[in-house]
Order: sequence, then structure tokens, then C-alpha cells
Amino acid sequence: MPDPEQFQEFQEHSVAEFFKKNRQMLGYSGKIKSLTTVVHEYVTNLIDAVEEEEDNLPEAFVKIEELGPEHYKVIVEDNGPGIPEDYIGRAFGQMLAGTKFHRFMQQRGQQGIGAAGAVMFGQVTTGKPTKVITSQGDGEILECDLSIDVQENKATLDNKKTYSGEMKGTRIETEVKNVLYQKGRYGVDEYLRRTVLANPHLKLTYVDPEGKTIVYDRAVQDLPPKPKEAKPHPQGVTVDDLLGYAMQSNSQKIKSFLKNDFTRVSGKKAKEIQEKVSFDLNKRPGDLNWDEAEELVNTFDEIDFMRPPTDVLVPIGEERLKKAVEEQLEPEFKTVIERKPKAYRGGVPFVVEVALAYGGKAGNDNGEDEIEAMRFSNRVPLLFNKGSCAITKSVDSVDWDRYAVKENTPLTILVNFTSIHVPYIGAGKKAIADEEEIKKEIRLALMKAGRKLGNYLKGKRKKKQRLQKKKTFETYIPETAKSLADITGKDEEEIRKHLESVVKQRFSDIGEDED
Ligand SMILES: Nc1ncnc2c1ncn2[C@@H]1O[C@H](COP(=O)(O)OP(=O)(O)O)[C@@H](O)[C@H]1O
Ligand SMILES: [Mg+2]
Repeated sequence: MPDPEQFQEFQEHSVAEFFKKNRQMLGYSGKIKSLTTVVHEYVTNLIDAVEEEEDNLPEAFVKIEELGPEHYKVIVEDNGPGIPEDYIGRAFGQMLAGTKFHRFMQQRGQQGIGAAGAVMFGQVTTGKPTKVITSQGDGEILECDLSIDVQENKATLDNKKTYSGEMKGTRIETEVKNVLYQKGRYGVDEYLRRTVLANPHLKLTYVDPEGKTIVYDRAVQDLPPKPKEAKPHPQGVTVDDLLGYAMQSNSQKIKSFLKNDFTRVSGKKAKEIQEKVSFDLNKRPGDLNWDEAEELVNTFDEIDFMRPPTDVLVPIGEERLKKAVEEQLEPEFKTVIERKPKAYRGGVPFVVEVALAYGGKAGNDNGEDEIEAMRFSNRVPLLFNKGSCAITKSVDSVDWDRYAVKENTPLTILVNFTSIHVPYIGAGKKAIADEEEIKKEIRLALMKAGRKLGNYLKGKRKKKQRLQKKKTFETYIPETAKSLADITGKDEEEIRKHLESVVKQRFSDIGEDED
């Protein structure tokens, strides 16, 4: 017999409690990484928020203030829509709450835990609330201190004030302790530099803890196309997702739920599904159980659906990425490859784009020439969990030697993965799961770009060798001219001039440029 005594300590926990205990799952592990994660959460949100508006180009202000040892204040301000009073608590103080979770749309945020996670990290390391200042329209500004009631997974707003002013958008100020500001590969500076590269329409002003201001101007002046909201494709959906969609559906019957809530399910396809499953598709979607959902998912795999539409994806774009690379890296050579959209797991559309930049500021910024690989998903830089990411694995699988790339080649490899649903490893969203289809696409893009770079580098090497040869010839011209003049009795000056013109002609392919 079970002993009820043993279960006396049985308790329910809120999502907030869970993530408070497991904050490493949200990226709060390691002092440098934690600071970068706070910035990442606020910055991705602001770009998403501004893009929701019509005709508004994002402009961001980020400041890291040093308040003491391992103690900083992170300030992020945007020119977005602002957050209505009633939603501030839910947006910043409640886990798994947001406007993006139920959408099947290409956005930076997905689960609705980012902002609240950052607020909570500040709260548990400093005991202080996060200050939120946000416009309410009509020149009204609301300011408040927001803290999270962890047990209830709810926000509390204190010191609420409203006043009038010019501001449009949202400003967040979070104090954090136990973190470290450092330049380098995992720090805030690098995160922001990469954010600007993948978002050439963003204007960013950054003030670092030493008070130095960096202004990143826009490389392009127009907005990227807006991603469209899509419906999921039956192939690629998991049993769990399917049940979730079914519970939320407004349709009366499973049959109409499949037709309305999924893409590429026609009446004919629904009939085909009905013929293959053991239960009646006329029942209510809410009555679908796990076994039936599993049967449906297995059946989807046997049916020949049209591929998912791909016009819902908005990559950075070849021209825009070129401009961004030019503006930020000033390379000697660059090439951008955008692949055609493909689908992974049968039904989730994605597109891969790759840029290679050589010379100039490309390669690592630490003064030494090196290869640096920059990973992005939906234009968000991925700085951590490098080893387990599909992008790293694809980069490593390419034989760079073939393209004349060596370890000390000053090369930046930029890969952006765009999808409506990015298969992240873990809730922290730092690495892309290594699905075969994804790795293959990235690899193909890298190889195509690699060939172009290889041609350039090989051409450059050849030119250098020819230049050397030309110089050798030139060195011997005066001596040769003198000897020839002695032997033939002709004018030395004339012979010299003639020899010079012969050399010039023989090496006309490498031009005049001597360095
Ligand atoms: N700067 C901002 N301006 C307007 N709305 C915002 C801003 N930051 C966050 N939000 C709102 O708060 C919600 C929760 O954000 P977050 O917890 O990061 O989840 P997610 O980004 O995954 O949706 C967002 O979905 C959005 O509706
Ligand atoms: Mg977010």
C-alpha cells in the first residue's frame, strides 16, 4: 500500500520556479555568457517588436554600466510600439507568455520566456526589480518597477508613474550581479557586432562599461519584407504539437481542423487520411487522444502532400547581406550565396544563406589572422554551444584546403539559417539541432561560396608569383643592357628601354600595380 506520509511534501511548481532552479537552461551559466544572454533577450525582442509595426526602421540604444565588481546595469531602449499597461506584467514578468508562441511565423522569439528570464536573472542576483519605461500613445509614458512572483509565475508592478513626454518605444533597465563584461568571442560587443551584420536595417548605438560609444549605422535604408504567418505542414508536426493545435482549434470536426489549420491538406487529402486511420475524423478535435494523434502523424508520412509554401520565409537577402558585409567588415573579397528554400522533417521550410568575407576586417578581430565562423538563426547571432550546432558541423565538414583557405586566412564565414520553426537544442536557443537535411544545405552553400573564394585566392597567389618573377627580370635589365651594349656597340639606354617594354608586355596580365 502506498504511504500517504511519504507524499506529504508533494507540491506543484510554477514554470518560473522551474526556470529559477534551472536557469542554465535559459543561458544563465557562466559570467560572461549570462550578461550576453540578458542583452540578447532584450535586443531580439526589440527588433521583433519594431518589425511588427508598419514602416518603422528599428533603432536601438544599448548601454552596459558598471556598478561594482561583477555588478552591471543593462539598459536597452527601442523605438517600437511600446507595451500597453495591461500587458507589461505578462510580457516581462510571466514565463511562457507572449505574442509569438502560437504563431507559425518566422520570428526571433518563440516560447515567451526570454524577457521574463532576464528580469528574473536580475532579480535573483541583485534582489532588485527591473525598471520598465514604455510609451502608451498620445504622448503618455508609463514607468514602473517590475518584479516576478516566482511561486505564482506572475509579475508585480510597483512605483507606477505616468507622465507626458516625447518618447516612443520601450526602455528596460535591469541590474545584474555575478556577471562579467569582457571583450572577445562571447561578450556583448561581439554579440552586437554580429546582430548588426545580420540586420543591416538596424541602427544601433552602444555604450560600453568604459563609456565608449559605438554607433552602427544602417547599411541599408529600407525595411526587409515582412514575414507572413503560415500554417504548419502536416509533415514535420510532432504528436505533441498536433494535440496542442487540436485543443486550440475552432473547427467542429477533426477533418475540418486538418483542412483549416494545416497547409496543403485539401478535401481530397483529408479523405485519403480518413481511409488510412482507424477512427472517425468527424469527431471533435478536442476529443483527439494521444494514440489517435500518433496514428495521424504516422499516416501523414505515407501521403504525398505538396511541399510547404516557402514564400513565408524572409532571409537577409543576397544584396542586403552583401551591403552589410561591406559596411561592417570592409573585405578585400566577398561572396554571398542564398540557397533555394527546402524543408526539413518533411514539412518545415527553411532557407540557408552564406557569406564569405576575406581580408579587411574579416577574420578574428583580435589582431591575429584567423578563420572566424559566425552562426545565425533568423538573424540572431548564436555565440554559444558551438560544438553541438548544425552550422559548426557543416563548416567543419568542408575541406577548406581545396579553396586555398588555411588556418591563418583572415576569413569570416557567416551562415544564417532561416525558418518558421528553428529546431533549437534546448530552451536557451543557442544551437541548431543537426538534422541531416539542414547540414546538407549549409554544406552545399559553403562549398559553392568556397569555390568562388578559392578562385579568387588562387588567382591572387598566381599574381603574386608572377609579380615576383617580373621583379626578378627587372632587376637584371640594367646589367643585361650594359653587356649587350658592350657586345653590339649599340646604345645602352635604347636597349634598356626595349628590354623594359618586353618585360612589361610579357607581364601585362598582372597590371601596373607593384604592391
Ligand atoms: N521591446 C518590446 N516592445 C514591445 N513588446 C515587447 C518588447 N519586448 C517584449 N515584448 C512582448 O513581450 C512578449 C514576451 O517576450 P519574451 O518573453 O522574450 O518572449 P518571445 O520573444 O519568445 O515571445 C513578446 O512576445 C512581446 O509581445
Ligand atoms: Mg524574446
